[in-house]
Amino acid sequence: MNNRVDKPWGGRFSEPTDAFVEAFTASVTFDKRLYAHDIQGSIAHATMLAKVGVLSEEERAAIVAGLEAIQAEIEAGEFVWSIAREDVHMNIEARLIERIGEVGKKLHTGRSRNDQVATDIRLYLRDELSEILRELKRLAGALVDLAEQEADTIMPGFTHLQTAQPVTFGHHLLAWFEMLKRDHGRLTDCARRLNVLPLGAAALAGTSYPIDRAYTARLLGFDAVAENSLDAVSDRDFAIEFSAAAAILMMHLSRASEELVIWASAQFDFITLGDSFCTGSSIMPQKKNPDVPELIRGKTGRVNGHLMALLTLMKGQPLAYNKDNQEDKEPLFDTVDTLRASLRVFADMIPAISPKREQMRAAARSGFSTATDLADYLVRKGVPFRDAHEVVGRAVAFGVKEGRDLADMSLEELRQFSTQIEADVFDVLTLEGSVAARDHIGGTAPAQVRAAVGRARQWLTGGS
Ligand code: ARG
Repeated sequence: MNNRVDKPWGGRFSEPTDAFVEAFTASVTFDKRLYAHDIQGSIAHATMLAKVGVLSEEERAAIVAGLEAIQAEIEAGEFVWSIAREDVHMNIEARLIERIGEVGKKLHTGRSRNDQVATDIRLYLRDELSEILRELKRLAGALVDLAEQEADTIMPGFTHLQTAQPVTFGHHLLAWFEMLKRDHGRLTDCARRLNVLPLGAAALAGTSYPIDRAYTARLLGFDAVAENSLDAVSDRDFAIEFSAAAAILMMHLSRASEELVIWASAQFDFITLGDSFCTGSSIMPQKKNPDVPELIRGKTGRVNGHLMALLTLMKGQPLAYNKDNQEDKEPLFDTVDTLRASLRVFADMIPAISPKREQMRAAARSGFSTATDLADYLVRKGVPFRDAHEVVGRAVAFGVKEGRDLADMSLEELRQFSTQIEADVFDVLTLEGSVAARDHIGGTAPAQVRAAVGRARQWLTGGS
């Protein structure tokens, strides 16, 4: 009787896999999402094998047609995924053999699942990265539109979440834009380093067939081939780099979300968020909750967690491939899904932000936000900055006691603190005067916001 265990690797086994171990070691439930990239990689591999004469032209054609038919089956929802076939690679290969017979058994010549999966993940992430970069630019574009519209809108700028100096709302939004621009750079850099072909490394040492890796790389759109087979099958740096860039990007979305939540509160009341981005409470009829920014803030935690999972996954692994690597997928997939969804909803939400300009302005007027302007005014009149700081401090203390802002005091009242103060002081104590004075690159002046919007639009339409 043939005792052979019914697995592609069953030859050296005489006992079947324990049923729970089979489920425990299988990855098909989650790695089936790689099917299109697995087939893409297999077609390129078969094409290369035919080019170097390992497969005949008929064999190549049969394998490619079989793989294409399988892709159609999967996309029609007709493919039966099997835990017993362990992962996406063996499910597709076994089905290929079922469909086209003996010739299907030749596809895996000169290849291992180790270089196969490393290739699949890179192909998958490369596609996802281009979608993510597109979505990121869409969000950045929405911010730039709003910033342009709000170039003259005055709000309080904060340090320590205490009113500091007046800024323009457009300037604040462009601060978010700058963060995204850096994220775009990080992800673009990750995409560049990712675009290297592991296939050909086989299990770990390379293969004895006369393969043409440069040709496979060209077929799959890789810029180069991985130059060490041991590294090629075990390297997951690209996944970690992506997760790190994703975590930083989510941190930025989370910070912006936190500000939206604060601004939408009744206590700040700087913005309203469109109803379609909020939900109500099942008990408190008055509630309109900013769930979308809250959830983005919350989801940042899981993306951070996935980065830690991947770093920890890799830190103890000896070369080359280890089954541990199968654990790279779920964190990576969830990072991609979370990031894409968060970018999408954030981009959609930006046009639903309605600034309450009067409230922002009133908030900027309170809290002595032009105190620095008064000090700078005194400096221009010849008072040393430290003395000017002291003078204004006393004026603010007076204002706190009286419940009045600097701009609401009379000239006589202001002159109690320094006789250098003259009637022209009111030009700098106004909010408009304060923001307009910060008129250099990077400053909050409306003219600078418009110039920054111009530069941003150039970046948006340019390469990276
Ligand atoms: N499912 C495996 C993974 O995701 C594929 C590679 C398996 N290789 C092996 N030698 N068992 O990593």
